[in-house]
Amino acid sequence: MVQIAVLGYGTVGSGVVEVINTNQEIVNKNAGDEINIKYVLDLRDFPGDPVQEKIVHDYEVIINDPEIKVVVEVMGGTNPAYTFVKRALESGKSVCTSNKELVAKHGTELLEIAREKNINFLFEASCGGGIPIIRPLNTSLTADDIDEISGILNGTTNYILSKMADDGADFDVVLKDAQEKGYAERNPAADIEGWDACRKIAILSSVATGKYVDFQDVYTEGITEITAADIKYAKAWGASIKLLATSRKTAEGICAMVSPVMIDRNHPLYSVNDVFNAIFVHGNVLGNAMFYGSGAGKLPTASAVVSDVVDAVKHIDTNVMPGWSSEKLDLIPVGDVESRFFVRMKGSCQEKLTKAEEVFGTVDARELAEVDGEFGFITEKMTEAEYQEKAEKLDDILGMIRVRF
Ligand code: HSE
Repeated sequence: MVQIAVLGYGTVGSGVVEVINTNQEIVNKNAGDEINIKYVLDLRDFPGDPVQEKIVHDYEVIINDPEIKVVVEVMGGTNPAYTFVKRALESGKSVCTSNKELVAKHGTELLEIAREKNINFLFEASCGGGIPIIRPLNTSLTADDIDEISGILNGTTNYILSKMADDGADFDVVLKDAQEKGYAERNPAADIEGWDACRKIAILSSVATGKYVDFQDVYTEGITEITAADIKYAKAWGASIKLLATSRKTAEGICAMVSPVMIDRNHPLYSVNDVFNAIFVHGNVLGNAMFYGSGAGKLPTASAVVSDVVDAVKHIDTNVMPGWSSEKLDLIPVGDVESRFFVRMKGSCQEKLTKAEEVFGTVDARELAEVDGEFGFITEKMTEAEYQEKAEKLDDILGMIRVRF
């Protein structure tokens, strides 16, 4: 029997207990051993819940128990999660976590301790919730040079953008509705500003390249500036707007970015809607692959966490997740990243198109009957720096969205 401890009995923690109880037979068979939750750490008590007999309030009980071989960290945040996880690894206990803040900020150090101790620091649930992506990158796509990972990695923003497209409503209205329905948090900043997706793409880039990508180096824009008019233009071009987290190899090096992007029907991520997540991977010999499913939620996230527990139990004294080294990967400057740009401009096509083309060269322009007093155009490919330089020459630009078609 392998004894484990769960840190945190919130949404994911209670999901982990539920998954282990519900699928006990399958989980034990797959692990090749019986898994038993000996402790659940939480500040609160849960009278009436069978978990109460396992509840402890003091982490020392867990860290000092030599029977505990695997610690599941599902508290979120970095404090005290970082201290708890580091101490667990240092005392030879494998750790499985869903905590992307922890992995993005301290993953390099924690992976190194796990390698030294010949145990495992696993974090399948930190990116894409229940969708397997870390393990496939680590153990399946090993014959490939991965040249692109592009993902819809945040369910809240994908729900908001899908709803804006369905209802023709503005961002603020849909956000309020999403908060009322419990899809968006009361403080939605981490989701709508793109910070959550930023941490996730930094983790995926690090796993794919084997070098540490600092999430603070990833240029990040959220969806707060997206309007109902943007969506109308996107539809006119047969496209949808998605918050894409991308890491791509270019001739100059690797670029990583989080931003809203217009993608057309030919892109596999085009039809990923509502709260779903999907991760598109391109390998030099594989070609395209896509991983799709539930990117958040109690049971999907717990399913990924428990799959890590199974892996940790199967490899109790073997490090199977090298992750990435402490060598830092320098991303190319955002100004050097190439794209096409969708631009909205005040005025009519008739009066302003010549001016726009004098600055941007030939563009693909459209004027929509349902959007008054402005028109939109898509530029040819250019770098972000070139775009900024040109855009500064025009004082009537209303907005810009990057385009992938
Ligand atoms: N807030 C995240 C989302 C939860 O909306 O996708 C999963 O990390």
